Amino acid sequence: MPTESLFKSAAECHRLIIEFDGHPLSVPGDVSLAAALLVSGIRTTRTTVVTGQPRAPYCLMGVCFECLVEIDGIPNCQACMITVREGMRVRSQHGAPALACAAGIESGHHEA
Ligand code: FES
Repeated sequence: MPTESLFKSAAECHRLIIEFDGHPLSVPGDVSLAAALLVSGIRTTRTTVVTGQPRAPYCLMGVCFECLVEIDGIPNCQACMITVREGMRVRSQHGAPALACAAGIESGHHEA
């Protein structure tokens, strides 16, 4: 991941358009998806499986897993470990359905 953007303000970074939960969103480029979402005002990237409480990126270094999102149809992606790119289709994750999908439970493709 490029590091030059770490020393720029969000206003100085070039902008990209991504899709978040079905809506276009202008975000700074050359940063992690988690950072791009946070600086663009997104405060919830997933909800917890048990209580449905909102969660957002916390550690920004791949440890806490609070930043899980669906990217281009792939669930459980750590937004803090992926560089944002033009045209990404990002969806927030809500509860167990995304986890069930990742495990192949919904599609019936899980192995015994
Ligand atoms: S913010 Fe902690 S793992 Fe991504």
